[in-house]
Amino acid sequence: MREKITLSLIRRGGWCGDWPTMAAMSEPELSPSATTIPSTPFTEAERAAVYRAIYERRDMRHFAGGVVDEAVLLRLLRAAHHAPSVGFMQPWRFIRIKNAALRQAIHGLVEEERVRTARALGAREEDFMQLKVQGVLDAAEVLVVAMPPGREAHIFGRRTLPEMDIASSGCAIQNLWLAARAEGLGMGWVSIFDPQALAELLQMPAGAHPLGVLCLGPVDGYYAEPMLQQEKWASRAPLQDMLMDDLWDASRIAPPPAGKQHGA
Ligand SMILES: Cc1cc2nc3c(=O)[nH]c(=O)nc-3n(C[C@H](O)[C@H](O)[C@H](O)COP(=O)(O)O)c2cc1C
Repeated sequence: MREKITLSLIRRGGWCGDWPTMAAMSEPELSPSATTIPSTPFTEAERAAVYRAIYERRDMRHFAGGVVDEAVLLRLLRAAHHAPSVGFMQPWRFIRIKNAALRQAIHGLVEEERVRTARALGAREEDFMQLKVQGVLDAAEVLVVAMPPGREAHIFGRRTLPEMDIASSGCAIQNLWLAARAEGLGMGWVSIFDPQALAELLQMPAGAHPLGVLCLGPVDGYYAEPMLQQEKWASRAPLQDMLMDDLWDASRIAPPPAGKQHGA
């Protein structure tokens, strides 16, 4: 039985009030007077910085405590909010977990699901239980990403592919992830939890759908390669295995290495 959190102690709607000023929340306009931006490539240094963020971004589970400066957090959230989204529906919502008991309860949900996932893995149960799959208690900030109810009204791009709302939210999370690397912070995307239980814990309305618990904060260093690769759980497949010409070519797709599986 999960511990009951005294919700009356949790202040609602703290975000806006906690930010330095409401003006700081407004979006920076890139080019208000022009309808296009010149298609000039970035300078070599700028391109290098973009690719560096992509290649050095890691899913982090080890954090160094500390805090995330509010101005930096705002920059990261702006980066997330500038993600592409299907029909421009912007389905992402961010809940900043400030209450320690709530954070502990989220950690508990992840731990419960970690055990269930391990059991479902059968032969790899033991190996899985050795992996660190979250840093909820250690990260400076915990943000829950969820999608609001009413998404069925957004038909543009979702009539045949309703999961495009999830894809859009994934884009927002990736923006935040890359920006965090650029800011020298680490982020871990935790998805090992029962979404219904998390929705109930955070009093989400019916139809809302949590997608991730983001652990964010200072780190001592980034894993030089995916931690799951360092731990020999999985390895990056060759790019060549992912590419096909014209038609699906099953013969080109190599099976995962023996005893390993791609992804987590
Ligand atoms: C949608 C999604 C959900 C994920 N959920 C978890 C998770 O619950 N726990 C975890 O340790 N890592 C999680 N990860 C991180 C992946 O394990 C990680 O991205 C992968 O191992 C590659 O490592 P890298 O991100 O450092 O390149 C998730 C990643 C994505 C994209």
